[in-house]
Amino acid sequence: MTSHCFWSATSPLPSSPLSNTHTKVEEKWRGYFPLKRKPLHLRLSNAGRARAALNADSKAIEIPRRWYNLIADLPVKPPPPLHPKTFEPIKPEDLSPLFPDELIKQEASSERFIDIPDEVIDVYKLWRPTPLIRAKRLEKLLDTPARIYYKYEGVSPAGSHKPNTAVPQVWYNAKEGVKNVVTETGAGQWGCALAFACSLFDLGCEVWQVRASFDQKPYRRLMMQTWGAKVHPSPSTVTGAGRDILQMDPSSPGSLGIAISEAVEVAAMNLDTKYCLGSVLNHVLLHQTVIGEECIKQMEAFGETPDLIIGCTGGGSNFAGLSFPFIREKLHGRINPVIRAVEPAACPSLTKGMYAYDYGDTAGLTPLMKMHTLGHDFIPDPIHAGGLRYHGMAPLISHVYEQGFMEAIAIPQIECFQGAIKFARSEGLIPAPEPTHAIAATIREALKCRETGEAKVILTALCGHGHFDLPAYEKYLQGNMVDLSFSEEKIQGSLANIPQVAA
Ligand SMILES: Cc1ncc(COP(=O)(O)O)c(C=O)c1O
Repeated sequence: MTSHCFWSATSPLPSSPLSNTHTKVEEKWRGYFPLKRKPLHLRLSNAGRARAALNADSKAIEIPRRWYNLIADLPVKPPPPLHPKTFEPIKPEDLSPLFPDELIKQEASSERFIDIPDEVIDVYKLWRPTPLIRAKRLEKLLDTPARIYYKYEGVSPAGSHKPNTAVPQVWYNAKEGVKNVVTETGAGQWGCALAFACSLFDLGCEVWQVRASFDQKPYRRLMMQTWGAKVHPSPSTVTGAGRDILQMDPSSPGSLGIAISEAVEVAAMNLDTKYCLGSVLNHVLLHQTVIGEECIKQMEAFGETPDLIIGCTGGGSNFAGLSFPFIREKLHGRINPVIRAVEPAACPSLTKGMYAYDYGDTAGLTPLMKMHTLGHDFIPDPIHAGGLRYHGMAPLISHVYEQGFMEAIAIPQIECFQGAIKFARSEGLIPAPEPTHAIAATIREALKCRETGEAKVILTALCGHGHFDLPAYEKYLQGNMVDLSFSEEKIQGSLANIPQVAA
């Protein structure tokens, strides 16, 4: 399915100045005087190095002033989104019922960098820069020579990476005079982020929360309500899309695709209301690159270069946020990490989906996007990582995957929670169910390093805390968690409903 083009994600670039191989001598000396591998920009002065040593483990770096747009550096540009009726490439005006002009511009932009407005930076300062932490205690627990780093986004007010895009999305809407925004939410993390941002800029906020999470996670609903948002379980009786689903299945657990249909329907019907999306779209991935831009500087401060970058993928925004700036460095031949997405075995869009034009929502209201999809009417089983229950993958990530610049694996939820428990009992932080996928993959790799003796540098995204996901932990701790695995039949059924678009 995935065609790897002129160079594979796992083989070293001939031009890369940073080799991943260490001699035995290097390994021996590392124990005494950590041998600095060349930093990413390769231009650190002695004073810079001294400062780097001081800064390691701290938040002393600056918040980036620009978001990074990977499209500018891609040798092959991604295919355009299509109008759902005409199948022609969509025009900016097609999107204006849903989004403010500035976000539409960003969606289609091929500029390499986009300035972050001062007002947004001002809000980012509440929690950014976020810490990059070496997981020394986890390394010790696993008895691995690997060096594991995690970039922790759980320090934001909403507890995840989602406010990195919620704040600019709401700010651009407010600047263009929009009064209300509507959205979907899976785990409730995105809904919380949007409700928080709306409370700062005084916008109305209405959220459709996937039924399975609405029931499992009452505290996120209460957080959204505390920030002033109105929250509906999805499918709801408020919209035509919701009523249709309920008619077919009154006990539907919902899905992100259904919740998106409901929010888009409301935005399309109300002039003073726009729609915000928490993942998938180019402008969302763009805003999340503050994570990777900060992380590049922080890895430099540690004197480290990642050999492997791991992130979980639902719609792909935290993964893109961390990895895209590193992919830029990789494309320029400065580093050569393996970039690995981790998805749930119950909703494996990248590893088992079809690369095809499909709708972003269940009812077929959104533009058609070329992406890895399980079919827009695929309803994943109600795994605890509600934020990963999306039938598709960000078109930009799908494209990068097709081009061979990254790889993907799928992991079932019990292994993820086993990893999360190890992480919590060594590093202290309790991860949200979504990044437990990245942690499980990190542990797999660290254990491989124990076997091979390789001292790989593994960088992973801990994109949110799990303080409001404790019922999932309770299930695991009581031995009641089950692996809801993926059904070939179910996917064949939903793939049959993908619209037929000429290649
Ligand atoms: C903590 C957390 N991580 C990851 C995700 C998945 O989204 P994305 O792939 O866009 O990062 C979500 C989505 O709700 C989330 O809440």
